[in-house]
Amino acid sequence: MGVKTAKATYIIQNSLGEGGFGSVYEVIQKNTKKKFAMKVEKHQKNKHLLLQMEVYILNVMEESEKRIWFTKLVDKGCYANDGYSFIIIEILGPSLYELKNRSAPFLFSTSTGLSVIQQCLFACEQIHHQGIVHRDIKPGNFACGLNDRKNIIFMIDFGIARRIVDGNGKMKEFRTGLAFKGTPKFASLTCHQRNDIGFKDDIESLLYMLCDLISRKGLPWKNEYDEQIIMKMKEIAWSDIGSLFNGLECCKELSDIFNYIIRLKYSDDLDYLFISKQRILACKNHGEDITAPFDWENNIINGSENNKLSIDIEDGNDQKYLLSDRQELIIIKLLIIKN
Ligand SMILES: Nc1ncnc2c1ncn2[C@@H]1O[C@H](COP(=O)(O)OP(=O)(O)OP(=O)(O)O)[C@@H](O)[C@H]1O
Ligand SMILES: [Mg+2]
Repeated sequence: MGVKTAKATYIIQNSLGEGGFGSVYEVIQKNTKKKFAMKVEKHQKNKHLLLQMEVYILNVMEESEKRIWFTKLVDKGCYANDGYSFIIIEILGPSLYELKNRSAPFLFSTSTGLSVIQQCLFACEQIHHQGIVHRDIKPGNFACGLNDRKNIIFMIDFGIARRIVDGNGKMKEFRTGLAFKGTPKFASLTCHQRNDIGFKDDIESLLYMLCDLISRKGLPWKNEYDEQIIMKMKEIAWSDIGSLFNGLECCKELSDIFNYIIRLKYSDDLDYLFISKQRILACKNHGEDITAPFDWENNIINGSENNKLSIDIEDGNDQKYLLSDRQELIIIKLLIIKN
């Protein structure tokens, strides 16, 4: 079976994933034989197409300088009679959700979790710089790249993203009494309270995601499905931030980030460098080997040192960090911020 656009024909292969709003398939472009991913959304009466937002965000990010953490929008099409629309995007590897659940103990090592989260933070920072909040930060919405991009963690799924800063740099007005949007397990407390989500809320979700990925105890509400109960449990966690990261050696550094985030308001700017530095300290203070390959790469490279390139960087405060090639992106970024 295939789909056609003005540009090309795509042959549908296997399913790559099912989401709340549509399905994602692997497709092959008929002429070039190149593989892509196709995200399909069924049209629903009186409902706004979420793929439209996806197209909008991917185009915005494509035009931005730092598009490392975003897939390229290759093509798009619509079968109005059959009632669906689709986009063709770069194909990625498994999502963090899948990678985590592949094998026991169904957790990432702290070093992998801290490395991954840094890239997710950069991705958040990049869309935030465009005035956009993602609003559904969770492990299923980040996926690793393939081949020469296998060390990049991509941000995906912009269906419920929202622009909160207009073209003149003015923040949209803060709204209350909204409907719940997102995923209860990872949603920020503000979102549960039906208030408008700002940039800091994406980072709050990122911290819940980190806890989910590396803490043996997991999120306190991991077995709850009732959104209101989860909200209450988050309120309790907010009154004792350390409790979220208890059991982790880097509990203090992560709690410091959390304490910083929960003090922020909707319209506040974020200090991304502070968060990055706390993350680096978390690795450094507890001897986490951030030069190690990602957990899921271990099977492939079998502990080989071959693709590692170690570099020393200084952060301007006589702090030195040893980084691998995987972290090169981070070095570049830190240097950009420094200069
Ligand atoms: N470009 C891609 N390459 C490979 N797999 C992908 C790609 N995009 C999405 N997927 C897979 O499909 C799943 C669902 O995609 P996506 O999150 O975009 O859909 P969704 O319907 O908006 O999801 P949900 O509502 O559950 O968050 C992802 O978790 C991922 O496993
Ligand atoms: Mg998704």
